[in-house]
Amino acid sequence: MSQQALLKPIKMGDLELKNRVIMAPLTRSRADNEYNTPTDMHVKYYTQRASAGLIISEGSQVSPEAIGYINTAGIYTPEQIEGWKKVTDAVHKEDGKIFIQLWHVGRMSHPDFHNGNKPVAPSAVNPNDKAYTYQGFMDTVEPRALTTEEVKETVQDFKRAAKNAVKAGFDGIEIHSSNGYLIHQFFNNTSNHRTDEYGGSKENKARILFEIIEATKVFFPENKIGVRLNPSLHGVFGTEADEETIPTFEYIVEKLNDYDLAYLHLSEPFNDVSDKDFLVTNIAEHFRPLYKGNLMINAGFDQESGNKVIEDGNADMVAYGRLFISNPDLPLRFEKNAELQNWDRDTFYVPGEKGYTDYPKLDQEKVS
Ligand SMILES: Cc1cc2nc3c(=O)[nH]c(=O)nc-3n(C[C@H](O)[C@H](O)[C@H](O)COP(=O)(O)O)c2cc1C
Repeated sequence: MSQQALLKPIKMGDLELKNRVIMAPLTRSRADNEYNTPTDMHVKYYTQRASAGLIISEGSQVSPEAIGYINTAGIYTPEQIEGWKKVTDAVHKEDGKIFIQLWHVGRMSHPDFHNGNKPVAPSAVNPNDKAYTYQGFMDTVEPRALTTEEVKETVQDFKRAAKNAVKAGFDGIEIHSSNGYLIHQFFNNTSNHRTDEYGGSKENKARILFEIIEATKVFFPENKIGVRLNPSLHGVFGTEADEETIPTFEYIVEKLNDYDLAYLHLSEPFNDVSDKDFLVTNIAEHFRPLYKGNLMINAGFDQESGNKVIEDGNADMVAYGRLFISNPDLPLRFEKNAELQNWDRDTFYVPGEKGYTDYPKLDQEKVS
């Protein structure tokens, strides 16, 4: 039988990935310590998953202002760098590769995370969603609009985070410009009413992303930088799309061709948007012709559809989220056409080993 498309190696800049089964970025809220530092549990969790072609770490806040969830790991203090270094060393020892996802939640936060101050955003528009705080779910609030100067400072926060990521031993970075968080908030009209160079035209709405690429490539070459986008996100994560959304993303994707990036990481719609004429329902098919580099696709894929999307030429790699939570040896399971374990949603974001590091690998299962 010929080798499955998902299991073929792929070149990403000067990195050689052993397969195309990528671990998607997954917030797991296990950095439950004073400094939001990765712990020995993180080391175990990521090492268990080192057979992925590439691990993309959980979203890691670039600054204290970037926080929007409890117990998420950061990449802005010496303690956090040290914690992450233990993770990258252990993953490298197992012949794995790991990028860190650089994250700023923007308005998807709550004053409880900011000493009672409002979260920051492109504009003062409440996403009317919930934030998960130490007191449980709380209504989001109207955020404070960043000044032009503060937008530039935020770009510098990403730059510092990239510098820290080098110190922490990461193979590269993924810029989280997806899922309704800060950078994505700049792209959409409903969250961005700015009249300065960061609002209005699609070039302006996309500007912050390109400034972050320019700033971070001082520390990582372009071919070690990935960008994540979710063009048809609508009705979730406080995000509302309109007729200008897809043209804005088309502009962004085409402009990303100016950079020799590690990859472009796209998500298929998170929910049914087929009744929205102005949105795209098949992201891989729509954007593949527009992007010349490595294209990673995500959301809702299994083994069969993952192999198919690559065979059809609509993507080069597939990122798996929930399946990697419950199947630490996912590439081996694909290779053996083995049964997959189900994930337990109740343990996605709670402290402790349960549902984090206790999913067995194939050889640890009792096989009858
Ligand atoms: C528990 C959980 C945490 C997530 N955390 C992140 C994150 O930190 N950054 C991100 O870009 N996406 C995050 N996502 C989205 C996933 O990367 C992925 O897009 C989603 O799970 C759909 O892919 P799947 O169908 O393979 O699970 C998260 C999803 C889940 C279920």
